Amino acid sequence: MSSIKRRAFYLAIFGAQTFFGLCSPISTATSNDLEAGRLVMTPAGLFPVSNIHLVPEGGRVHHTSKAVHLVDADGGIVHTAPIEDTVHPTSIHQALRLPTLTYSIIPRAFNSGYVAYSYWRNTNPSPISFFSTTLTVPLFPATIDGQLLYLFNGLIPNSFDGILQPVLQFGSSPAGGGNYWAVASWYLVNSNIYFTTPKQVDSGKVITGVMTLTNSTTSGNTTTYNWNSVFSNLPSTSLSISTTEALTYAYEALEIYSVSGASELPRGSTKMSSINIVTQDGRHPNVNWTVVKDKVDGFELVVVKNGSTNGEVDITYP
Ligand SMILES: *[C@@H]1O[C@H](CO)[C@@H](O)[C@H](O)[C@H]1NC(C)=O
Ligand SMILES: *[C@@H]1O[C@H](CO)[C@@H](O)[C@H](O)[C@H]1NC(C)=O
Ligand SMILES: *[C@@H]1O[C@H](CO)[C@@H](O)[C@H](O)[C@H]1NC(C)=O
Ligand SMILES: *[C@@H]1O[C@H](CO)[C@@H](O)[C@H](O)[C@H]1NC(C)=O
Repeated sequence: MSSIKRRAFYLAIFGAQTFFGLCSPISTATSNDLEAGRLVMTPAGLFPVSNIHLVPEGGRVHHTSKAVHLVDADGGIVHTAPIEDTVHPTSIHQALRLPTLTYSIIPRAFNSGYVAYSYWRNTNPSPISFFSTTLTVPLFPATIDGQLLYLFNGLIPNSFDGILQPVLQFGSSPAGGGNYWAVASWYLVNSNIYFTTPKQVDSGKVITGVMTLTNSTTSGNTTTYNWNSVFSNLPSTSLSISTTEALTYAYEALEIYSVSGASELPRGSTKMSSINIVTQDGRHPNVNWTVVKDKVDGFELVVVKNGSTNGEVDITYP
């Protein structure tokens, strides 16, 4: 982000699940933290820079009842984060469910955050065990000026204190990248975020973000779900994690930060297609997407096909 943009940051709160609420200024602490780089803009919302962790290739994120361990390919523990009772206030709660934190730039800024998304909650007894989505990497935006764009399908537990997501990004994210498109897998658990090294992908490339429940094991009253997130045929994006919560919400989303105008976005639409969702009992559940979009800034999200076999939702840029 350019220093001019950084200085021009201000923050506003918008209504839950809608972007039509009236904005009101919030905590300058958050704003100062962003300026000082103590908070960074991840696909799961704003997080302290100290809570962001690179997962080495072949490593995994293992969740026990007391802590989250980052384990390398040889089984060595790289980092341990204790489970906190309270989730960091800039978590996915705010990004998606509670009053949504958005960030704007003066003047004529676009609202930041989740500007167009659809979600579906699995209420079947059998948990989601597979979720894939195919998209074509867009052309570069006409204007490149420090914007950060994220497109992804993601899975979230009922507690909303985690998200697993294979993410296409444009711009420099806390994981890396630059003024090009790149893919990585991300996992937020509690207050910590884990990611794989972003891998550059060319405009026009067709990519598929795939999340697979490898297995689940139950011991006492705790079930551990072992998941993998990866872009097909891009093994460096593979991230394996374990969690003790079922992932119940499926999302298709466009998230943006530091965008001053439409020319800093791709043009036309991105089709989130070949959406496949399977539950652990092998069924394709009935999926009906609920749509949330920032109409004020001109974002559109249209459900072309509900259902969990080759479904499609199209995101259109202003
Ligand atoms: C379940 O998956 C994990 C992670 O891939 C693996 O370590 C474990 O051996 C598997 N357990 C069973 C019972 O297959
Ligand atoms: C799980 O079992 C343990 C021991 O039986 C008990 O202390 C704990 O409260 C249980 N947890 C839940 C969530 O039921
Ligand atoms: C998708 O499902 C939603 C919710 O039931 C419904 O409002 C919408 O009309 C459906 N769209 C299509 C294209 O079937
Ligand atoms: C959801 O969509 C399916 C078709 O995919 C339809 O049969 C079902 O009635 C819909 N359910 C709701 C609650 O809209």
